[in-house]
Formats: sequence, structure tokens, C-alpha cells
Amino acid sequence: MTAAAVTARAPAKINLSLRVGPLRPDGYHTLATVFHAVHLDDQVTVTPVDGDAVTVAVSDEHGDPVPGVPVDESNLAVRAALRLREAAGLSGAGVHLAVRKVIPVAGGMAGGSADAAASLVACAELWDTGSSREHLASLAAMLGADVPFALRGGCAVGTGRGEHLEPLSMRAALHWVLAWSDTGLSTPSVFGALDRLRAGRPVPPPQIDQRLVTALERGLVGAVGMLVDNDLEEAALDLRPELATTLAAGRQAGARVGLVSGSGPTLVFLVDAQRASRVARAVAREPGVAGVRHVTGPAPGAALVA
Ligand code: C5P
Repeated sequence: MTAAAVTARAPAKINLSLRVGPLRPDGYHTLATVFHAVHLDDQVTVTPVDGDAVTVAVSDEHGDPVPGVPVDESNLAVRAALRLREAAGLSGAGVHLAVRKVIPVAGGMAGGSADAAASLVACAELWDTGSSREHLASLAAMLGADVPFALRGGCAVGTGRGEHLEPLSMRAALHWVLAWSDTGLSTPSVFGALDRLRAGRPVPPPQIDQRLVTALERGLVGAVGMLVDNDLEEAALDLRPELATTLAAGRQAGARVGLVSGSGPTLVFLVDAQRASRVARAVAREPGVAGVRHVTGPAPGAALVA
């Protein structure tokens, strides 16, 4: 008997603060970050197939192909399915993953990690593995630094590589205008550029400003706007200097603040709801901007779609 298809969704993230510490021997950097999930979801639909193959197809919200996303075992959603299947001790259990991509590719919003989290949730349901959320989180941590947060969602302080999460309760909904670029940036290259820029400078252990945590917990949007920051911004702007002009355009149009999201090149502008469309129109006119969207956060983590 063949089970029906199962769909799960998972959110994109913004780093409200991203403090990057020293490079570790494993090639990762010690981080202290505040993750914030926003209402911009990818979906993964899993369908059982004969045999033991795990295949993937990726399309955008209109059903058109999405360039730049691997469709082999290097796809993080495929790796998630394989890891869960192995942990559950299943044999056979071939599955096809249909990824519906809305989160910009290579955009610094952890879209690949969202796909992996959605794949874990959907496959666990399809295969009836009975996996606890904690078990899925431990598999998520093996897949990538941002996958545990895509699973959890909301708002959380992340430490280690970003995988140790301390949830944070947020009062206010934040409004964001996102501006994504026509060309992605590779995360390792941005971290590498930061290492080059910092060569010879001492790099202290990363720490989140507690005032930001308090501002989020109390819903003080003005203070949040003054306290957001991103250590990777310097490196992303070094690789893509034109992003600075778009940041300036968004601020000039009334955004409280604009910053590079994660490793970029997606830019995020904290706005008051009534200014969102004005800011969106202004940044959409900038060269290299491929799309803009008004979203809110925090958003829930990976979950089945009814
Ligand atoms: O974990 P993930 O595969 O998303 O990380 C991609 C790359 O980003 C890593 O290979 C590493 O170069 C860089 N990275 C880092 N420090 C982190 C997270 C990511 O240097 N904490």
C-alpha cells in the first residue's frame, strides 16, 4: 500500500544580531546570534516511490525551475531525508521530495536549512518514525548550523556554530522589507572575506548585547532598530559594494534600519507597517535588486501543512 504525499513548511530567518568570533579548527566560526524567523516559507512535499532512491525536484511558487539549487545528494533536504531514514533503521523507503522555493537561494536567509527542516518533519510523518522534536533537532544539528533554528522557529539566541538555541519570547511583531539580489553569495566566501579583513586584529569571543534581548522581550521596536547588527555585513559589502547604495536607499525611504541578512546578499529593512510599501518601492528601483517583499516575524518553525 502506498501512503499519500505529506507536505511540511519551514521559515526563512533573519539574524537580528550576528556576532562572529574566532575561526575554529573545524572550519566554522564561534557565533553568538539572535535568530528571528519570518513569514516566508519554503514547502517540501514528500511522496513515497518504489525502491530506495531519494530524489528531489525544485520549483518556485509558480512551478518554474529554480537555478542554483543542487538536485543530487548535496541538496540539504535530501541529506535530511537520508539521515532520518538511517536513524530510523528503515530499508527501502524511497521518496521523492518536491521543494517549493520561496526563500531566496544563496541569500543569507537559510533557505536550504528551511528545506532540510521541512524534509525532516515531512519524512518523519510519512514514515511514521515517531521521532520526538528533540530527536529531529539532534539530526538537524548534524545537517547544518541553521537547521535547528528552522525547525524551532520563533526567536532564539544561537551559540556554538549557531545550533545551540535559547528561545526568546518576543512581544511585538516586527515588519520587514526584504530585498533580494539577482546573484547569490556563498556563505563560506563571506566568512572567508571576514577572516581576511580581520587578519591581524584580535577577535574576542562573540557576545549578544543584552539590551537587544530586553528590547525584543519588551517589544521595544525603536530600541531593536538601534541595536541590530551583523559582523558579516562588512565582509558582504566588501564582496558586493553596491549593496551599500541599496541600504542607503531603504533608510532614506523611511526604514528604521537596514542590514545585510546573515551572509547576504539579501538586505532586510526594519519598518513601521505603514512605511513598508514606500520602502519596498524605493529599494526595488536599485540596480541588482531582483525582488522585494514585506514580511513579519516571528514565525513558527517547521510544521506539517494540513
Ligand atoms: O552549516 P552550514 O553548512 O550552513 O555552513 C556553511 C559554511 O558557512 C561553513 O562551511 C562555514 O564555511 C561557514 N560557517 C562558519 N561558521 C558558522 C556557520 C557557518 O564559518 N558558525
